[in-house]
Amino acid sequence: MKKKVALITGITGQDGSYLAEFLLKKKYKVIGLKRRSSLFNTQRVDHLYVDPLEKKTDFELYHSDMNDGSSIINIINKVKPDEIYNLAAQSHVKVSFEIPEYTANSDALGTLRFLEAIRSSNRPKKIKFYQASTSEMYGNCKKTPQNEKTVFNPDSPYAAAKLYAHNITKIYREAYGMFAANGILFNHESPRRGETFVTKKIVRGLTEIKFGIRKKLSLGNINSKRDWGHAKDYVEGMWKILQHNKPDDFVLATGKQISIRDFIVKCLRFLKLKYRFVGKGLNEKILDDSNKVIVDIDKKYFRPIDVENLKGDSSKARKVLNWKPKFNIDDLVEEMCLFEIENIKKNND
Ligand code: NAP
Ligand code: GDD
Repeated sequence: MKKKVALITGITGQDGSYLAEFLLKKKYKVIGLKRRSSLFNTQRVDHLYVDPLEKKTDFELYHSDMNDGSSIINIINKVKPDEIYNLAAQSHVKVSFEIPEYTANSDALGTLRFLEAIRSSNRPKKIKFYQASTSEMYGNCKKTPQNEKTVFNPDSPYAAAKLYAHNITKIYREAYGMFAANGILFNHESPRRGETFVTKKIVRGLTEIKFGIRKKLSLGNINSKRDWGHAKDYVEGMWKILQHNKPDDFVLATGKQISIRDFIVKCLRFLKLKYRFVGKGLNEKILDDSNKVIVDIDKKYFRPIDVENLKGDSSKARKVLNWKPKFNIDDLVEEMCLFEIENIKKNND
């Protein structure tokens, strides 16, 4: 039987790498799109790539870019995918305030480029399209927890671009009968999380403090609350969304929420670091047992608007897709901390 072909944009990112692993295990042929970079950017998927000259591989990489419509059209016509997972994006909320136009182009118009390329191909009804929508689209809305019916209220250029992508995906589904679905995913993390997102920054920073490699970690707003899951659970949810008998939109979330401050405390405890909080607001600090500052607050990490209260209600996905997360926040903290510890030990060998 012919293998199903999955095309993944953002293959070099956290989710792209876990999704590729997941689909290869399910015997898909996986085509990943990477963008050109002056440095190697395939570290998260290098273990999946087997030189075709040496051995047959079900994993291939091609260059493309969300901002390059012709490469998108060409690749869809060339590889004839059964499923497309659109994960590529300028995904950093704070950075989107600094490069709003680039963010809109890649995250909003990039999604439109994919939908148009599918629509104008000769097999628009044969391709299932997954769009990586986000809980950021809820912004500082009044309602908690948030579900598929909650009104969106984007509070950043990133969220506004993603909301356009979300809406245009729905519009192509309704207008052209395409299988186009949105997964509204709440924050999900892992050892492969990008280094500038807060969980990875905290885990790496505190582990380096533990091993005497660094003295201090500076953070922004530690009052905001997030609903954090594990990326492995969420890529399974993406696949389930495309296996459903009709295209639809689904929230994926754990339903549990903690603050950034509580996440720091969980890491401090796991790493067995002694700590004491002192001060308030911008003067809040964490001291170690010899009264040295190990965490402080730096204004430069604050956003012009911050989304403070995200907590998801994923009962629709749990009921309709039979999806539920296997990892909890403590599993996540443990896995992320152990990964950083291993890394430090490896580098010191
Ligand atoms: P990530 O680690 O930041 O990965 C983003 C990917 O997009 C990377 O492969 C990146 O390439 C690629 N990319 C960025 N700009 C591009 C462009 N112009 N053209 C082509 N590729 C481009 O993000 P993630 O955490 O895996 O998230 C995957 C998707 O889900 C993103 O769309 C994100 O916005 C969305 N999302 C994430 C979460 C979450 O908590 N992780 C929650 C909701 C939604 P490089 O490696 O070269 O930078
Ligand atoms: N990045 C970062 N760095 N965030 C910090 C810091 C810091 O030093 N200090 C505090 N924070 C706070 C942010 O202000 C925010 O309230 C929270 O930590 C989480 O920030 P991020 O980890 O950058 O994630 P995010 O929630 O803004 O965005 C992530 O999740 C979205 C889903 O809700 C990204 O993965 C988005 O792509 C995704 O859509």
